[in-house]
Amino acid sequence: MTKKPIGKDFWNSGAVKAVFRADASEEVTLHRPLAKIIRSFHPKRLLDFGCGDGALLTSLDPRLEIHLYDRNLASATMAKQKSQSPRTHLHSSLASIPTNHYDIVVLSFVLICLPSTDELLRVLRRIKSFLRNGGTLIVAECHPCFRDRRFAGHHVAYTRDARFNYNARFHKIAVCLHGYGEQVTFYDYHWTLPDIINTVAQSGLAVHQLHEVRDTDYGGRPANLHFPPYLVICAKK
Ligand SMILES: C[S@@+](CC[C@H](N)C(=O)[O-])C[C@H]1O[C@@H](n2cnc3c(N)ncnc32)[C@H](O)[C@@H]1O
Repeated sequence: MTKKPIGKDFWNSGAVKAVFRADASEEVTLHRPLAKIIRSFHPKRLLDFGCGDGALLTSLDPRLEIHLYDRNLASATMAKQKSQSPRTHLHSSLASIPTNHYDIVVLSFVLICLPSTDELLRVLRRIKSFLRNGGTLIVAECHPCFRDRRFAGHHVAYTRDARFNYNARFHKIAVCLHGYGEQVTFYDYHWTLPDIINTVAQSGLAVHQLHEVRDTDYGGRPANLHFPPYLVICAKK
């Protein structure tokens, strides 16, 4: 098992490849329902902000105009290679992303890299400028209320001595992904539900829908049928 550092340092590094390789459970459990939520808005233009290696792309309608941005350009370049859409654009800087353009901006597992509401607010205000009026931000995250539960695809390494403290804002959490061939552990930040929802509201976007995504069987491990591993928030400009 490999242990990695926290947030931004890790996600900017080359070591992320190991995580994305082990990340198939997210594709199985989350991306199908997430793609369905995206389809329900009938989008034509989508920006995957913080796209990583583009794990979501294979679940999206290839007729979409897809734009990719990640501050780790090496990851975004991997995403571009993975995209099945001939209409995929890679942005190597924020400056080249068009404003008032997108029907959907997806922010998938980006919050967990951010250590404060100030940083999220900066990101959300920028994202709001990329959305067209009436466009939708879709935030997908691990459900913050059930961090201490074991799911088919991942668990957080809390112990009896260091138990989950939901109230402790922005504490480090050691996430262990159950890949098929390997397990990978790295640190992210815990966000409380009000920290997420209130920061979205503060950015001027209006929360429109919440979805709790159920666990599924994965890699020979049974789904946790009692708690949802993922939360999806849709907010309108
Ligand atoms: C956990 S990965 C998720 C990748 C992908 N969205 C997914 O769902 O598999 C988080 C990604 O967000 C990117 N990221 C974090 N903060 C960012 C920021 N402020 N601007 C752009 N990308 C950011 C990281 O570089 C990393 O690739």
